[in-house]
Order: sequence, then C-alpha cells, then structure tokens
Amino acid sequence: MAGTELHYDVRGEGPTLVLLHGFPLDLRMWDAQSAAFAERWQVVRFDARGLGASAPGDGLLSMERIADDGVALLDHLAVGQAVVCGLSMGGYAAFAWARRHASRLRGLILTNTRADADSPEARRKRSLLASEVRLRGVRAAAEAFLPRALGSSSKRTRPEVVARVEAMMLAAPQRGVIDALAGLAARASAIDTLREIHVPTLIITGDEDEISPLADAQAMHAGIRGSQLALLTGVGHLANLEDPVAWNAVVAPFLETLRA
Ligand code: MLT
Repeated sequence: MAGTELHYDVRGEGPTLVLLHGFPLDLRMWDAQSAAFAERWQVVRFDARGLGASAPGDGLLSMERIADDGVALLDHLAVGQAVVCGLSMGGYAAFAWARRHASRLRGLILTNTRADADSPEARRKRSLLASEVRLRGVRAAAEAFLPRALGSSSKRTRPEVVARVEAMMLAAPQRGVIDALAGLAARASAIDTLREIHVPTLIITGDEDEISPLADAQAMHAGIRGSQLALLTGVGHLANLEDPVAWNAVVAPFLETLRA
C-alpha cells in the first residue's frame, strides 16, 4: 500500500465498514466485531504501519498516514465509501480521514476517543515513555497502558480480557510503538474538524474509561451536529474488547440505519 506492506483482513459482503485499532494494539482487537458484523457488512481492518504484522513505517506514525493507508486499501478493494470506526488512536485517525477524505466517508463511529491534541505535559510523558520503550522494550508500554486501558470491572472480573490485551501489547513491535508514540504526540487537534463532519456519527465511551472519559465524548457529541452518544457501563477504554456484546448491541442498529 503506497510503497509498503500493510497487513489487513477482509470479511463478509455488503457495504464496507473499516475498523481502525488503538495503541499499542493491532487489528485483532476487533475480532468480535469482525465476526459479528461480517454477516451484513464487508468488514475491513488493518494493522497501522509498524504495528501488528504491518511493515515498519518511516519514524513517525501520523494519524494522516493511517487515514491515507485506509483509503489506499479501499482503492485496492475497489470500494468507494466506508463507514469508519476508530477506537482511541483509531478515532484520531478517523478525524484525519474526515478532514482529508470526506467523500470516502459514509458514517463514523468514534469509540473511546477524543478530539483534543495532547497537552505539553502529555507530550512530555509520551517522549519519556518512548525512551523507556527504547531501553526496556514494549513491556514498558504495556506496563504504562494496561492498568489504565481496562476498566476496574474488567480488571476485577474479566481475567481473559486482561490476559488477551496484555499479550497483544507485548507482541507489538518495539519500533512501531516508538513511532506511534511520536505520531500520537504530534497529532493535530480535531476540535475544528467536529463541525466539518456531516455524516451520521455514533460516539461511544465507557463509564470506567480513564483515558477518554465521558467529558471527552460529550465534547465530541456537542461539536458534531446530529451525532448520537452512548455510554456503556462497567467498561473502560477498550470498550469493544471488554464487553463486545454491549458494544455490538449499540453499534448494530446504528449500522442498520446506514445500509439504506
Ligand atoms: C489508544 O488507546 O489508542 C491510546 O490510549 C491513545 C492515546 O494514548 O491517546
């Protein structure tokens, strides 16, 4: 894809749904959604450059790069428009998609994400974490993210989810994690993008999400005209992984309205 090897997965038939993964994860975080929605959708997911099984990028994984790779993948599949769903980093990339490729967007699902750019303090923390990952490997990123990525209910009652997410984080390529931290820190604010979004939009968050709490979801909801907001209970930042049944139940009726 645009001079690189992108690892992707396509399942099902119908209108296209693209799933953009979060950091420091890969396309497997959408297994339950790919299985469920492939009955009525062509579900497309890919590993961002340098993460999962995709080839390394060029030192900085920008949100624009993820969006452009998604559109190049649609070109490759001869698909015009897609509903784009992004979790956290995937949501930041979905904003870049909306800015750069509005004509290729049929609808948006923004889950556990936010429109703001990083604060100077958040950027400093990312740079410190990148140094740690350089020294100690991806374990440093897993140690920093795992406790915050999962809600307290999951940490208490869903040991299989904790193990799965930890394994995915530990499998992330070191260089890709460093490049993604640079891209996350450099990302533009999407506040001005909100009012430019004119496609049906569903915003989801979990009441135990510490990374993108309800206030972030409410700000996006206020900024995107006609958007819907769903708050899931007993889940944190990785809502679709923590409670796939509840997450899918909110998304399925929204998707049905976009098939028309
Ligand atoms: C993610 O889940 O993609 C990350 O939490 C994004 C971030 O750290 O801003």
